Amino acid sequence: MSGADFVPGLAGVVAARSAIGWINGLEGVLRYRGIRIEALAEQSSFEEVSYLLLFGTLPSSAELDAFDEQLKAYRVLPDGVVDLIKNLPSTGHPMVALQTAVSALGTYFPQMDVTDRDGNRAAALRLIASMPTIVAAFDRARKNLPIIAPDMNLNHAANFIYMLNGERPDAKVSRLIDVCLVLHAEHGFNASTFTGRVVGSTLANPYSTIAGAVGSLSGPLHGGANERVLHMLRTLDSADDVPAFLEKMISTKQKIMGLGHRVYRVKDPRATVLQGMAADLFDSHGATPMYEIAHRLEVEAAKRLGAKGIYPNVDFYSGLVYEKLGIEVDLYTPLFAIARVAGWTAHWLEQLEDNRIYRPTQLYAGSLDAQYVPMDER
Ligand code: COA
Repeated sequence: MSGADFVPGLAGVVAARSAIGWINGLEGVLRYRGIRIEALAEQSSFEEVSYLLLFGTLPSSAELDAFDEQLKAYRVLPDGVVDLIKNLPSTGHPMVALQTAVSALGTYFPQMDVTDRDGNRAAALRLIASMPTIVAAFDRARKNLPIIAPDMNLNHAANFIYMLNGERPDAKVSRLIDVCLVLHAEHGFNASTFTGRVVGSTLANPYSTIAGAVGSLSGPLHGGANERVLHMLRTLDSADDVPAFLEKMISTKQKIMGLGHRVYRVKDPRATVLQGMAADLFDSHGATPMYEIAHRLEVEAAKRLGAKGIYPNVDFYSGLVYEKLGIEVDLYTPLFAIARVAGWTAHWLEQLEDNRIYRPTQLYAGSLDAQYVPMDER
């Protein structure tokens, strides 16, 4: 292999055939199974989008009802997993707790035969259904609050909020969370999806596969960026502070969280939908100065960084919405995972349909003639 073949970060390298998510980074277009994200955000639900991603078509009404019933049945965790969550240190990050609990599910449902299509489908649904229960249980346990059992009368989004704070959200809040889940459900060959496909390609069990993807999402350059956006915005007192902040970040070559994307060279279409939702939420539930700060940052950054194709990504406005809804900052990435597990499991099923273990190569840059030196001669 020559140095010319080496592509750091595998940027632009085609690693699989896939029919799940499609992105046009130059025009800012995202489609799930061919359907534009804007249409799904406006008209669909997370449950329906999960079905679409997993099985490739929109469900009929009866199919969606049956799918929803199955998801609800899987919301309840084994007692042992709840005990495990309760025993985790409250100081741990919820993403690590999520990864641990997802992995632990594999010991309760030890599916070793991943050629069993029905078993795989059940595992995918169990994973999608379990994630909100795990995240809410960990958040309650770390606050010494009683864990709340799922409410089977609520949809996926509303039930998560209910398990988190014990209150059934109003229709607007419930819909907002639902749309956030739809927007985050799938995004092609990003790092966490790729991780999941690599683990899945070894024919590992589904829980280990998704635990790997959760770990990958937790980093600040991927899912962890949404937390960092909020921490960053909180350091600014007003929109007037934005130009000096931007100048300092650019001159010291620091990355501004929530801006830039490996694929998009224009504004991320999900950021546009989220921005509209944030503005609408602040209209109805009261404004926050942080929205003004964020918007000014977007405008100023476009002047300075637009030529490099650096614009807001999905994380730029999501934190503002979650903060307004009273969700703790370190739950933003778990919320992302609760959505993205639909994409991860869809990719896992797709990977298994035409599997070949991933095994790229390397550009060896080490020595080829080092000698072993006995300990007493070193
Ligand atoms: N703020 C300021 N400058 C940025 C930037 C940001 N957020 N993102 C990229 N740039 C600049 C880089 O400094 C680099 O400039 P240079 O060519 O003068 O050296 C150029 O844009 C290309 O950046 P690069 O790091 O090669 O882009 P990438 O495709 O490898 O990285 C991200 C993409 C997402 C990792 C990167 O934009 C980033 O770290 N963003 C912040 C974290 C974030 O929001 N992540 C969530 C992604 S959904």
